Amino acid sequence: MSAAFARLWAEIAPIGREDNGGYLRYALSEPELRLRDWFRDQADRRDMTVTEDGNGNLFAWWGTPWAPGTVLTGSHFDSVPHGGGYDGPLGIVSAFLAVDLLRERGVTPARPIGVAAFVEEEGGRFGVPCLGSRLMTGAIDPDRAAALRDRDGVTFGEALGARPAGASSLLASRVAAVVELHIEQGRALEVPVGVASAIWPHGRWRMDFTGDGDHAGTTRMIDRHDPMLTFAHTVLAADREARLAGAHATIGRVSVEPNATNAIPSLVRGWLDARAADTPTMERLVEAVVKQAVERAGQDGTQVSVEPESVSPEVAFDTSLAGRLSALLGGAPILPTGAGHDAGVLSAHVPTAMLFVRNPTGVSHAPAEHASDEDCGAGVEALATVLAELT
Ligand code: GLV
Ligand code: MN
Ligand code: MN
Ligand code: MN
Repeated sequence: MSAAFARLWAEIAPIGREDNGGYLRYALSEPELRLRDWFRDQADRRDMTVTEDGNGNLFAWWGTPWAPGTVLTGSHFDSVPHGGGYDGPLGIVSAFLAVDLLRERGVTPARPIGVAAFVEEEGGRFGVPCLGSRLMTGAIDPDRAAALRDRDGVTFGEALGARPAGASSLLASRVAAVVELHIEQGRALEVPVGVASAIWPHGRWRMDFTGDGDHAGTTRMIDRHDPMLTFAHTVLAADREARLAGAHATIGRVSVEPNATNAIPSLVRGWLDARAADTPTMERLVEAVVKQAVERAGQDGTQVSVEPESVSPEVAFDTSLAGRLSALLGGAPILPTGAGHDAGVLSAHVPTAMLFVRNPTGVSHAPAEHASDEDCGAGVEALATVLAELT
């Protein structure tokens, strides 16, 4: 299977690839639209019908779309800016190959298999992660989703070409199970394939630090109200509090106005990504960071405002399903993750499981993310076994 994997993977590997091996595949941008065309073509080649749900999510069907007992598998094409190539597309490529493998083995599933490509999983373009699955499950209002803006001011509604359709009753009424295969994103998996137990609660908070823009050369240090200073103290507070709590805090995105070397900024906008093993720990972490930001703003004569952009509760995947899949795969390890997934959003509505494929670098959301063809081949075999069991 590793050779078949390598052949199909080679078709998409160049799409959105940058010189350093990283990927820029924002949702509904040119490279992601090419991947969507590739998806339709793959479905065609396999005589699979493609449907869309009005939210930007695509489905390729082996069997009658949305017939009772449907099993969904797949993942997402979009990437974080300059991210890895496997996070997302691996689950879609593996799903098509698992269909091939089942057909080669003469398996005819009694229930339909839908290969899904969910839109804007990373929230890299419009800010809210798992936007497609949130829309599908009614976890976000379609008007709010439509109005989300990318860095160039384009809204999600404009990129989609329509107001999103919103919640679908098909999920709860027709889908028996969801299985998302994904590259493992930490250093936790030492064998080719594992099964997910849980996703840490996580969220994004936009923090606006405002002060007085002024001249870098003429403003005395004592006269300044510099929001960059408040921001810098907040970054250090987030790091300190996360370490104390055994949690994770990151400020990986920032924008500055006017963003000039010789001007004291008037605005620093930073996005806090906070995650922990349980919700109270995550909430305490965010409270502590905000408290210290506000205290520091008092000293600096600046202002801070905080806006939650998305909060994802902790996910405990269906324990009996995870145990069943682990046993089916010869005792595959069962492990939690700190990364968010569409499967996590869907798990509140449908029995859901995830398969992880080993990542020897342990790096993700960066160009060094990697999985070997052999392990990806093992992932396809595992997914085929699971789909045969569930359909
Ligand atoms: C998505 O990959 C996330 O967890 O940020
Ligand atoms: Mn990701
Ligand atoms: Mn992903
Ligand atoms: Mn993700």
